[in-house]
Amino acid sequence: MTSQLRVYVPEHPLIKHWLGVARDRNTPSVLFKSAMTELGRWLTYEASRNWLPTEDIVLETPLAPCEATLINPEPPMAIVPILRAGLALLDGAQTLLPLASTYHLGLVRNEETLEATCYLNKLPETIDSNTRILILDPMLATGGSMIAALEALIERGANPELFRIISVVAAHPALQKINQYNPNLIIYTAMIDPDLNEQGYIVPGLGDAGDRAFGTL
Ligand code: PRP
Ligand code: URA
Repeated sequence: MTSQLRVYVPEHPLIKHWLGVARDRNTPSVLFKSAMTELGRWLTYEASRNWLPTEDIVLETPLAPCEATLINPEPPMAIVPILRAGLALLDGAQTLLPLASTYHLGLVRNEETLEATCYLNKLPETIDSNTRILILDPMLATGGSMIAALEALIERGANPELFRIISVVAAHPALQKINQYNPNLIIYTAMIDPDLNEQGYIVPGLGDAGDRAFGTL
């Protein structure tokens, strides 16, 4: 049997609510940014369920010895926000993963060819293959930006089995392309939208996430 990309769309009222706020064209930039923070938080919560390393220990409560499970701080953990729009998800993700390093990756799509190019790469030269990596980009449209990010991580030694991708709206063309690139990846998204328009924007989508988050419309 061939493997298939796993795409989770958590059924959670907070995720649905903040997605609705973000989609609304009348939402002002400051509220759009808050919606992205909340989506970053709740999608990271869902993605971390079977991904965070834990250890079982015995501790002393004020009354007696007790078995407990804590997050194991040993395996390295990193968050990779894809600039600019991925930055809008970062605050919410960092709240839940305060020990993670943050490696910024700046990618921009050419508006005509829709090809992504990298203008900032703060990844370390080599990445420990045990590193759990959370990749943040609210929009998966053609999938080109995400694949450029995956390639940059993998060529430095990161293990894609330990990646989790967080997006807000993932379009079918991006999911198909990412599945062809590596069907073992795991994506958490607030919604899957059907298609792109002629300019490569997701429809219905939420418009230009970077411009809306940073008030540059
Ligand atoms: C947007 C978005 C994604 C990319 C998705 O970034 O944030 O990174 O496009 O498109 P793709 O799947 O077709 O590659 P953009 O290039 O507009 O930059 P920005 O985040 O700085 O606005
Ligand atoms: N980038 C965005 O910000 N929105 C889209 O719909 C597609 C790419």
